[in-house]
Amino acid sequence: MATQESSSDGIVDLRSDTVTLPTEAMLARVQRAPLGDDGREGDPTVRALEAHGAALIGKEAALFVPSGTMGNLLAMLAHAERGADVFADSGAHLLNSELGSVVTIAGLLPKPMPGRRGAMDEMALADTIRSSERPGLIAMETTHNGAGGAVLPLAHMMRIHALGQSHGIPVHLDGARLFNAAVALGVPAAAIAVHADSVMVCLSKGLSAPVGSLLCGSSDFITRARALRKLVGGTMRQSGVVAAAGLVALETMLARLSEDHAAAKRLAAALSWLDPTLADPDHVQTNILRIDVSASARDAAAWAESVKRHGILVQASGPAQLRLVTHRHIDAAAVDRTIAAFAAVAR
Ligand SMILES: Cc1ncc(COP(=O)(O)O)c(C=O)c1O
Repeated sequence: MATQESSSDGIVDLRSDTVTLPTEAMLARVQRAPLGDDGREGDPTVRALEAHGAALIGKEAALFVPSGTMGNLLAMLAHAERGADVFADSGAHLLNSELGSVVTIAGLLPKPMPGRRGAMDEMALADTIRSSERPGLIAMETTHNGAGGAVLPLAHMMRIHALGQSHGIPVHLDGARLFNAAVALGVPAAAIAVHADSVMVCLSKGLSAPVGSLLCGSSDFITRARALRKLVGGTMRQSGVVAAAGLVALETMLARLSEDHAAAKRLAAALSWLDPTLADPDHVQTNILRIDVSASARDAAAWAESVKRHGILVQASGPAQLRLVTHRHIDAAAVDRTIAAFAAVAR
């Protein structure tokens, strides 16, 4: 089975950390995982993953779900009534890439908030909540994908949570890359998760598990979410096959995320040296780098096509923006090759 411990295939794939392949240790654990029917009496490996994840994130319970999108959807369904408002930063993944499920499945009305580097404007949020007829849910995101992997300050998260509590509005955290935020802040993940009632974390991004996310929260909340998971067709069977890899991800892959952050920082520094309008290394806190090509002669699609000819894959995420994401397969040589490709195209 394919695993990849370095970028040896000649292609440097910076499109996303979701391209990471499972490690040898994950595949070995899969082979000896005890299995059962998750929709009947339960799969023991899934149960172990849920217990481990809940403890790590500091919540009473967790639910294994196939994707981050399903985790966020179940949070909305379990927290809020149809027709209620969901407040989130205007650049949030939830209100952009997941808008379809917000509106059509959860039936919530998106209230996009202005913000700075992923952090909602607190005054604007308080005002919007006051004028809302049906406040339903506040959603935060850390690290913030659209804001280039920005980490929400803990004091900000604490105030947002307090605001929600003062109005009786639950707070959900899209923590697809929660462990990147924890590593960047130098705190346990639970010290971030404490500022939300529910948290979704992805195992399939920088942590390299092949499939899956965890939704975490109180026991009551997870009981509701488990029933809703069945409703949307997310109950799996011998899902210990993938949960085993997720367990190894949580046990072994957290601390190494700092290597991805260092690689992103080095890339940003080199690109800003090439052209200061491209990137600001001071804004790179984790493993996502957003590059602004508006001052160059090419649009983002042309940049992506040009660096691809050098074997470098990046994502055009707007007419003038590229997204580069570092991960386990981006070693020092891959960073060097990326810098050389950008230098060659810029010339
Ligand atoms: C911030 C954020 N939330 C949620 C998701 C959705 O995760 P999935 O692709 O597993 O559905 C992503 C995926 O990139 C993400 O970046």
